[in-house]
Amino acid sequence: MTATADSTRAGRLRLCPADEVPEGGGRGFVFGRMPEELRVFVIRWQGRLLAYENACPHAGVSLDWTPDRFFDRNGELLICALHGARFRPEDGLCVAGPCRGLKLTALAIELNDEGVVHALDPGRPSP
Ligand code: FES
Repeated sequence: MTATADSTRAGRLRLCPADEVPEGGGRGFVFGRMPEELRVFVIRWQGRLLAYENACPHAGVSLDWTPDRFFDRNGELLICALHGARFRPEDGLCVAGPCRGLKLTALAIELNDEGVVHALDPGRPSP
């Protein structure tokens, strides 16, 4: 389920414990409220945790076709629910669909000492 969340430190967005993101899976989060809402998702792909803004470069909508479902049926590419654009998990490049050649906005992530994933907020400088 996409969670509404608050940042815990300026410039860092607390997502979830890393062990809550299964291989080939993801979790979505919403920070703030419209019109300044920031939607973020984190995935685990080939053992790596990666985070992106949850905004399709075609029309800006959230990718997940149902909460926390970001991968296509084959589990190999991320998919946008609206028009079916497909993105490489490792770098967010759109490889099929109406925004082919564009990329999702990647967010740097950090793990704290408790194993909680934080994304660096692109809108605010980190301390
Ligand atoms: S909004 Fe994502 S493919 Fe059109």
